[in-house]
Amino acid sequence: MTALTIEQVEVSYRARGRGSVRAVAGVDLQVAAGEVVGLVGESGCGKSSLARVAAGLTAPTAGRILIGDTPVAPVGWRRRPAALTRLQMIFQDPGGSLNPRRTIESQLLDGIPADLTGSARTERLVQLLERVGMSDDARRHYPHQFSGGQRQRLAIARALATEPEIIIADEPVTALDASAQAQVVSLLLSLVRELDVGLLFISHDLALVHEIADRTAVMYLGKIVEQAPTRALMAAPRHPYTRALVEAIPQISAHPNLPNVLRGEVPDPAQVPSGCRFRPRCAHARAICLTEPQLREVPGGLVSCHRVEEIAAENGVTELSVAKRSVTESSVTGEIAMEASE
Ligand SMILES: Nc1ncnc2c1ncn2[C@@H]1O[C@H](COP(=O)(O)OP(=O)(O)OP(=O)(O)O)[C@@H](O)[C@H]1O
Ligand code: SF4
Ligand SMILES: [Mg+2]
Repeated sequence: MTALTIEQVEVSYRARGRGSVRAVAGVDLQVAAGEVVGLVGESGCGKSSLARVAAGLTAPTAGRILIGDTPVAPVGWRRRPAALTRLQMIFQDPGGSLNPRRTIESQLLDGIPADLTGSARTERLVQLLERVGMSDDARRHYPHQFSGGQRQRLAIARALATEPEIIIADEPVTALDASAQAQVVSLLLSLVRELDVGLLFISHDLALVHEIADRTAVMYLGKIVEQAPTRALMAAPRHPYTRALVEAIPQISAHPNLPNVLRGEVPDPAQVPSGCRFRPRCAHARAICLTEPQLREVPGGLVSCHRVEEIAAENGVTELSVAKRSVTESSVTGEIAMEASE
């Protein structure tokens, strides 16, 4: 079953001095129940803008969002009707989901559905804390009394209280140290598998996404440029942008290759290049690239590049060996790779 459907979504901002910024320029994406979809791309490519719209926090300029079969009406976070609690969002800063002035107990109880009454509510509260690896004692404390990793686990417990069908996690471990990252990532994964929750996992960290996502979508300047099952996308990326990102993941080997760093800066979404938006940075650009490519089906995935078949024929479809690592290791290295490419 499809838990989340993002249909032709556009997000534009009016920004002083920049004119109109089209942060999301027509995105289609689906997340099924029990599936982890990774959304990756450099800083400023529109990931959080898409996440906020998908969560109903802001209205899209165009397009629509469905949770299951129900269209989402954007309402802001605090006034969410019961139907919208089927989708929960986890932010980079757990402060986005936890109120600093209220105890953990009162915040978790708030999320537990009203049809659970009396001692069943308290039992559920204890279960939730246990589920995220926190002691029962945590309920009496305030968010600032916990470490960053513990706060993120409590934010996950708060999200789970409502029994969501879909979780959108926007850089949920970026601010955490390596061991806290590993705990939060394994927790999220176990929830997806055991509770059949769909997870849209947004990250700079391609190596981490490689580790956990079933499917990955690569975003560039407001558009998805490639989408495929993660293993295939990482082993044989087809879009030149995806290939550059994957090549920039540090290789764990005795003779590591130097990352093939992307040329140039990420363009400003207020001044998108004509034709293919990746053209100014693409070593394969030709005259045809002056017209905009559409995301189209290729065997095993979707790619937005006029020359994908020619590039594959020119270079041979060489499989890249992606450094696979356990989620117990730091994801910081992956971030450096992405930043180096900006
Ligand atoms: N409220 C806003 N008003 C004006 N411009 C905005 C607003 N929010 C985001 N933008 C612009 O939209 C573009 C996309 O921003 P967004 O935060 O969605 O990117 P991102 O991919 O999440 O980046 P990061 O990886 O740094 O979190 C950027 O150019 C940003 O400056
Ligand atoms: S369409 Fe052209 S410029 Fe764009 S990614 Fe493909 S080859 Fe490069
Ligand atoms: Mg962001």
